[in-house]
Amino acid sequence: MVLFFKKELPSNPLSLRRKMQQLIAGNWKMNLLRGPAAALARDVAAGAAGLHCGLAVFPTFTALAAVQAVLRGGPVMLGAQDCHVAVSGAFTGDVAAVMLADAGCGAVIVGHSERRQCHGETSAGVQGKAAAAAAAGLLAVVCVGETEAERDAGHAERLVCRQVAESVPAGFSGVVAYEPIWAIGTGRTPTQQDVAAMHGAIRAALLRHLGPDGAGVRILYGGSVNPENAAGLLAVPDVGGALVGGASLDAQKFLAIAAAAQRG
Ligand code: PGA
Repeated sequence: MVLFFKKELPSNPLSLRRKMQQLIAGNWKMNLLRGPAAALARDVAAGAAGLHCGLAVFPTFTALAAVQAVLRGGPVMLGAQDCHVAVSGAFTGDVAAVMLADAGCGAVIVGHSERRQCHGETSAGVQGKAAAAAAAGLLAVVCVGETEAERDAGHAERLVCRQVAESVPAGFSGVVAYEPIWAIGTGRTPTQQDVAAMHGAIRAALLRHLGPDGAGVRILYGGSVNPENAAGLLAVPDVGGALVGGASLDAQKFLAIAAAAQRG
């Protein structure tokens, strides 16, 4: 399986040399004021040398400038946690993808389950955001995942594949993150067999949806990834990296997860 970003952008630090490597992404969620965010970014950047994976961090909007000042010119990519579908306009409180690019971001998370659940985001809306992100030159990280009830009922693969088909725009060259909702922040993770089965199903859905281009879309696993379980999860076939929440707020833990990444 070839893992690479189909349309590499010159500004994308996860390019060429790193295209076969796994991506370890830290979703900082609504945590950290500017000072602690910059300090965490400094520690992550200091530990990046010698790792054989790509690194990205996703601070909250208000910390983007402070973190960008730390990461500028280095190997750690900066991303945001959401964007609006429009380029500009009367959308109070929202941030356009092109504004994130202007602020130094190379990536943006869209459709995280916390936004789907707390803000009523739909897959159709997420698809629009992913397209807007790509148009702004950002790497879109499209999140999908099932609830525990959906898994228990045996519907997980069908529902997640439907989310993929409805959330991923045509011509997509970004990243999909599989995050079972019941694994987020709970300390529980699916078995490696379950992750392998779901990533295989997502890959098949991407190929159906995008044609051959579906082979080049990286699929991350997310949900309670920590230094203890990272090596096992990252060794699962077609796991292209990890989207890390809680453990990404601790530089040592985040770097330990990154050290467990597979060699490209
Ligand atoms: P977690 O969060 O690692 O704290 O489970 C993952 C995420 O929500 O992206």
